[in-house]
Amino acid sequence: MSIISGKTEISHRREESTIYNTMKINGGIPLSGTVKTQGAKNAALPVMAVCLLLRGETLTLDNVPDLYDINTMIETLESLGVTVEVKRDENSSQVIFHTPEELKWEVSETLARKMRASSLVLGPLLANCGKVSLPLPGGCSIGSRPIDLHLKGLKQMGAEIEIQNGVVHASVKGKLRGRRIYLDFPSVGATENLMMAASLAQGETIIENVAREPEIDNLAAVLRCVGVTVETEGAGGVRIIGIDKAHSGRERVIPDRIEASTYILAGVMTNGHIKVEDLVPSHIDAILAKLEEAGAKFSVKKNSVEIFPSKKRLHPVSVKTLPYPGFPTDSQPQMAAALSLARGVSTIEESVFQARFLYAQELNRMGADIQISRDVAIIRGVEGLQGAGVKATDLRAGAALIIAGLSAKGETRVDDMIHVWRGYEAIDKKLRGLGARVELI
Ligand code: EPZ
Repeated sequence: MSIISGKTEISHRREESTIYNTMKINGGIPLSGTVKTQGAKNAALPVMAVCLLLRGETLTLDNVPDLYDINTMIETLESLGVTVEVKRDENSSQVIFHTPEELKWEVSETLARKMRASSLVLGPLLANCGKVSLPLPGGCSIGSRPIDLHLKGLKQMGAEIEIQNGVVHASVKGKLRGRRIYLDFPSVGATENLMMAASLAQGETIIENVAREPEIDNLAAVLRCVGVTVETEGAGGVRIIGIDKAHSGRERVIPDRIEASTYILAGVMTNGHIKVEDLVPSHIDAILAKLEEAGAKFSVKKNSVEIFPSKKRLHPVSVKTLPYPGFPTDSQPQMAAALSLARGVSTIEESVFQARFLYAQELNRMGADIQISRDVAIIRGVEGLQGAGVKATDLRAGAALIIAGLSAKGETRVDDMIHVWRGYEAIDKKLRGLGARVELI
C-alpha cells in the first residue's frame, strides 16, 4: 500500500501525482485493538547507507518501513549508482542493495535538501571512494541541524574538507586513518557517519562519547554482517577495526520505538484498550516510566505493551528530553499532547534541539493550555480538547496533533501531512484498525 498515492503498488517509486495532504479525524472514540510496529525509520536510514561501503557486493535488509524518507534515501543511493530492489508484501518488506564496483560520489541538491539524513552518505562514500560532494542539509522547523561534529571527526581521520556555495567537498589521499575521536556531544548522526567511515579506514578507530540509541546497535550489527569488527569500548565508546573490502551481508531493521510510543500515547489519550506489538519495550523504558509516574494503566510483555482504560486522568509530571537512555526528544510532542489532558501542571524541557515546540500553538487551537518559556513547555492540563483545523510543522508535531485529534470532541483536520508520511507507515490504515474514524483528503 503506497503511503502517498493510496494505491497498492509493489515498486517503491513515489507517485508524485496524488499526495494526501490532509487527515480528517472524528475524535472522541476510545481506540481498541492491536497495532504492529513498523521497522525503525531512524535505524533503516543509516543502515541503508552501509551499502556505500561495498564494491560489487549486495546488502539485504529486512523489515525496512515504507516511508517517504526511505524512498528519498533509496533515490539518493540509486543516484550514486546502487541498484535497489524493493520486495514488499503483507507480511514482509525486504530491500536489496546491489552496489557496483565504482560508485558516483556527488549528491544532488534536490535530494540532499529533501532529507537531513542524506548527510549519512558522507562517511561511507568518503571511506570507499576517497571523495564526496554533498550539499549541506537544510535546517528544519526543530532548529538548525549542523554537521560540524561529523566533519570534525572526518578531518581527524585525514579528510580534506571544504565548504563552497553550501556544498561540502571532502576528499582523502589514499585511505582514511583510524583515530581516537571524542564527540563533544553524543550526536546520533555523527556517531553513525564516523562508524561507517572507520569501517574502511586504515587500522583501529575508537570513538568516545558516542550516541547510545538502539539504532546505533542496529548499525553495528549491519557493519558486522558485511565483515567489519565493531566492539563497545569502555563506558561510552565504540572500537572499529577497518577492513580492505566489505562482503555481502543480510540483517534486520529493529522496531520503531518512536512510532510504537506514538500509538501507546494515542491509547492513553483516548482512554482506550489497545495492544502495540512487535516492539522492544526496553527501548522505551524512559517513556513507560513517565507514563507509570503519571498513573497510566498498562502492562508490558516481551514484545508488546497493552494499554488499559483508566477512570482517572493522568497526574501531571515533569519531563526532560535527553540522549538515550533518557526521554527521547522524538516523543516529546506526543507526550505534551497526552499531558495537555493531565490533572494539573506538567513541564517538558527540550534539551536536545533548539526549538521543538512549534506544535504547542497548534494544540492550543484545540483548547490545550501550553506556554513556552525558552526551552520549557508549561502544560496546564484541561478536561478535554476540541477538534480544530491544525497544521503539522514537522514529523513528530504532526503525530502529536493526530493523537490529540483522536481524543478531541468533534472534527480535526491535520494539514501538511507530508511531514507525517516521512515517518509513519500507513498511519491512516493502522488507526482505522484501532477503530478510529480517520479519512485522507
Ligand atoms: C537523529 O537526528 C534522528 N534522525 C532525529 O530524529 C532525532 O531527533 C535525533 O537523532 C536525536 O535523537 C535520524 O536518525 C535520521 P543528533 P540527528 O546529531 O542525527 C546537534 C525524527 O523525528 N548537533 O543527535 O540529526 C543538533 O543540532 C528525527 O525522526 C550539532 O550541533 O541528531 C541537535 O541539536 C528528528 N552538530 C543535537 O546535536 C552536529 O554535528 C542532536 O543531534 C550534529 C548534531
